[in-house]
Amino acid sequence: KKKHNVTLLPGDGIGPEVISVAKNVLNLVASHEGIEFHFQEMPVGGSALDLTGVPLPEETLTAAKNSDAVLLGAIGGYKWDNNEKHLKPETGLLQLRAGLKVFANLRPASVLPQLVDASTLKKEVAEGVDLMVVRELTGGIYFGKPRGFGTNENGDEIGFNTEVYAAYEIDRIARIAFETARKRRGKLCSVDKANVLEASMLWRKRVIEISKEYPDVELSHMYVDNAAMQLVRYPKQFDTIVTNNIFGDILSDQASMITGSIGMLPSASLGGSGPGLFEPIHGSAPDIAGQDKANPLATVLSAAMLLKYGLGEVHAAEVIEAAVLDTLNRGFRTGDIFAPGNKLVGCKAMGEEVLKSIDTRAPSL
Ligand code: NAD
Ligand code: IPM
Ligand code: MN
Repeated sequence: KKKHNVTLLPGDGIGPEVISVAKNVLNLVASHEGIEFHFQEMPVGGSALDLTGVPLPEETLTAAKNSDAVLLGAIGGYKWDNNEKHLKPETGLLQLRAGLKVFANLRPASVLPQLVDASTLKKEVAEGVDLMVVRELTGGIYFGKPRGFGTNENGDEIGFNTEVYAAYEIDRIARIAFETARKRRGKLCSVDKANVLEASMLWRKRVIEISKEYPDVELSHMYVDNAAMQLVRYPKQFDTIVTNNIFGDILSDQASMITGSIGMLPSASLGGSGPGLFEPIHGSAPDIAGQDKANPLATVLSAAMLLKYGLGEVHAAEVIEAAVLDTLNRGFRTGDIFAPGNKLVGCKAMGEEVLKSIDTRAPSL
């Protein structure tokens, strides 16, 4: 039996609820596929702060680094919102991404036929959308220096951050994006603000330079404000989008809504020398935490990405994806994707239905 060590980082809010579902799904698919998981659960974010005083304990980072793949729920919550920067749950997540050196964050957004009605966009606009946001994850304004608080010449309090990219950081994310586009429909749109920002001017220059290595991929450029507009005007024009850390954060939340819900979108963070980090793109959803209302499918689909991109278990990943579609076909919906005529279920029940779908669908695949 092939054994895989997976670090589970449930985190805060709905994190533990959705990770519990994903863990059951992974265990069941393992039994069908003749593989075995060894899970290690570690604290991160607010729960780690409460437990140890820091948002990313040494032991958590070490466990993550020593595993074959890492699956994270979500972090954050009202309780820690006014903490100092270094004691915020979000800082723990950024330290984890930096610690694992996972600079390439793949965020696929596709409109499933089953969920066209859950989109807030008109059917003819949403239908058939299938795009991938390649988000740079360990650079840009999230990490740039100088940063901090201070006072200006008038004695006024200031907060400041720096958007900075080195050529090597742009080159490596661009290559991942071109490779990704090549495996999809061969179209790459680089999103920047090169009409205003120096960091974006370098971004565009380097992307054009790297494009010479990929003559088969059709490259275009778009300013981020226009891209935000085009995403709701005519999202089908996009295949692969590559962009910096903060634009990618924003545009991927926006893209998620075309598909019906942020509760559906998984992600894979890759590019380090060690394990990949897999997480839904949504947060800890404090407004619904502890109420068994969260949609676990983004995390279940992140587990599928973990199998595919993290462990090379492609068939097991396909079993999970097929089970998710089957569950939706059988009419089960959490509140965020509910439409009249469907069966409204909570987080746990949705997880149970995915397990049933695996049991009935897996053998026939
Ligand atoms: P959020 O993604 O947590 O929630 C936004 C809205 O979407 C809420 O109404 C929420 O109920 C809903 N939602 C999110 N996930 C859902 C799911 N799986 N099923 C159904 N509904 C879902 O974003 P926010 O409210 O801006 O942030 C809340 C906290 O989460 C903050 O502390 C923030 O820093 C943190 N956050 C963490 C991550 C992460 O861990 N990767 C990502 C984003 C935000
Ligand atoms: C995400 C989140 C994080 C980010 C926060 C919580 C640090 O919004 O994963 O999209 O901005 O990257
Ligand atoms: Mn985000």
